[in-house]
Amino acid sequence: MRILVIGSGGREHALLTGLAKDPSVTDLHVVPGNDGMTKVATCHPEAGAVDDPAAMVAVAEQVGADLVVIGPEIPLVAGVGDALREAGFRVFGPDKAGAMIEGSKQFAKEVMDAAQVPTARSLQLVPGATEETIEEALDSFGPMWVVKDDGLAAGKGVVVTDDRFAARTHVEAVHASGNPVLLEAFLDGPEVSLFCLVDGETVVPLLPAQDHKRVFDGDEGPNTGGMGAYTPLPWLPADGVQRIVDEVCVPVAKEMVRRGTPYSGLLYAGLAWTAEGPSVIEFNARFGDPETQAVLALLRSPLGEVLDAVASGTLAEYVAEHPLEWAQGYALTVVLASAGYPASSTKGSPITGEGLDDADAVLHAGTASRTLYDGTTEYVSDGGRVLNVMGVGASLEEARAVAYERVAKITFPDAVYRTDIALPAVEGRIALP
Ligand code: AMP
Ligand code: GLY
Repeated sequence: MRILVIGSGGREHALLTGLAKDPSVTDLHVVPGNDGMTKVATCHPEAGAVDDPAAMVAVAEQVGADLVVIGPEIPLVAGVGDALREAGFRVFGPDKAGAMIEGSKQFAKEVMDAAQVPTARSLQLVPGATEETIEEALDSFGPMWVVKDDGLAAGKGVVVTDDRFAARTHVEAVHASGNPVLLEAFLDGPEVSLFCLVDGETVVPLLPAQDHKRVFDGDEGPNTGGMGAYTPLPWLPADGVQRIVDEVCVPVAKEMVRRGTPYSGLLYAGLAWTAEGPSVIEFNARFGDPETQAVLALLRSPLGEVLDAVASGTLAEYVAEHPLEWAQGYALTVVLASAGYPASSTKGSPITGEGLDDADAVLHAGTASRTLYDGTTEYVSDGGRVLNVMGVGASLEEARAVAYERVAKITFPDAVYRTDIALPAVEGRIALP
């Protein structure tokens, strides 16, 4: 099977690394990819923008893809899946109608309402709302305010604050950018990311993971795309995954079928485990980044076959014969970001050290390579999130130790990273409400 992956980050490097271990996969391509992926796939950096459907169809045709796996949300929301399917390709990733579950928080709320899925109470404020309307809306929430940009914001458009002035300021900033705002009730409880393969009404969960969204240790600082993740979750109740599947993912899959837009691809439920159990914070229409890096490190099933079963509408039959298999133990990933992240990023910082060409140790999220005067090459930073350093171990503590030992062997000046990925879980500090 010849596979084309769309995207360029650590998630895509994890997907490629997983796909390369599947004996049925003969050939791997990635568009655009990054220089850290060239060991595992042919990169197509000049093939056009990932949200340009015609350009993505052209590269799929050029490489003769049997399957196209779409990594990020932007091409999904832009209808790249629809265009590839129309051109006759098998695609892992929902069409535009399905990607709305991520592309519009208001749409996701409507689906959850119809499917009776637990989520935070919310209220939309459109640009042009009067000062009085905004003040009244803010009055009906608090003492913690959750203010979201109701457009694609890669997890960065959310402000969670006990400062009403800061909440108000974010409402104004989002309106100034032309997007509606969603105010939400604060969900109290530890967060879970559960990825489910969805093919119509068939829902197959992967291992549950936890992301660390804030940039600094101790969950301080602004939200980012994600600074590290681990899987599985030792603190989750034994029936936790099944409850999320039954109470959240299956009802949503059924509602999408009922609407005449069956979902095909990955449904990512971002939840808080509250006193009442799982409650949805958001849905994404794709694998999460960086949780995927940890989750796929434990997958033993052939990833290409699994994704192809979803893309060809045969997931139920496939898993009946081949239930997903997982390695025992835990996996963890630490994100090394460039100076200034998440507000900005720094390109061109040299990265040296051990493990940079071992995808089981280090995945490349945003690197370029440059040739030095003596003809050798070195990696340099080329974006916000740059490397994902991996650790796998029999215990979460061991996985953590492995990952941070590897971090210590990498030289990346001014890198921004957290030293406490999975630490609260290791220390038993995650309390269920
Ligand atoms: P989102 O872009 O919706 O995933 O939000 C980003 C992050 O903000 C989430 O991962 C949570 O940490 C936090 N967050 C969002 N909505 C809520 C909420 N209703 N209650 C508590 N925390 C939230
Ligand atoms: N890990 C957060 C996201 O992928 O949106």
